[in-house]
Amino acid sequence: MPVIITNFAENYVVMPQIVILSASIRNNRNSHRVALYFKSFLEERNLADAEIIDLLKYDFPLFHERLQYLESPSEDVLEFARKMRSADGIIIVTPEYNGGYPASLKNVIDLLTNEWKRKPVAISTVSDGSFGGTQVITSLQFSLWKIKALTVPAMFPTPKIQGSFSEDGVPSNKEATDKRATPFIDELLWCIEAKRRMS
Ligand SMILES: Cc1cc2nc3c(=O)[nH]c(=O)nc-3n(C[C@H](O)[C@H](O)[C@H](O)COP(=O)(O)O)c2cc1C
Repeated sequence: MPVIITNFAENYVVMPQIVILSASIRNNRNSHRVALYFKSFLEERNLADAEIIDLLKYDFPLFHERLQYLESPSEDVLEFARKMRSADGIIIVTPEYNGGYPASLKNVIDLLTNEWKRKPVAISTVSDGSFGGTQVITSLQFSLWKIKALTVPAMFPTPKIQGSFSEDGVPSNKEATDKRATPFIDELLWCIEAKRRMS
């Protein structure tokens, strides 16, 4: 049976704003390819206004404190917080490093507080091995739960990243990848819509 996206976006007066948080700040990183893919996937189907927040571009220092206690946060930090706050939902694209998620991601999870609260968050993990970064899920899910985000009950692991996506985010097997992405995005849109109805 084909998987059909329920286009919740059609019910919106304003399109949902989805931030794709690309977590790897490594030189020659590969997981960013998946972030590029999700942006195209959402835009091609007119499902959301999608923006990539690239932690490599922000190149944040290690924060000593949460944003609310920082004495003079930079304009970049304020912009990042603003974008996270205004997003209807977030897709985190994260690599797996030694069975966990990278410090760059923990740095920005701990920076914010209310920005995460009741925010629908979908987790997409990436590795160059066979398991697609799935060992990240338990630790990341737990941190997001602790900070009161609404984690979406769907996964999008990508194993063997270099063979799965080109550098500009085109999947090597588009049909199979789109089929896998469909229920993942559908679940995120459902959570965004559920939250909208409760607000
Ligand atoms: C510090 C470090 C630790 C890593 N640990 C793992 C690991 O535990 N499991 C795994 O499958 N890949 C691991 N990798 C490889 C990543 O999966 C690989 O770099 C992949 O391309 C995703 O990360 P990237 O976006 O930074 O490139 C590790 C890479 C680094 C740099």
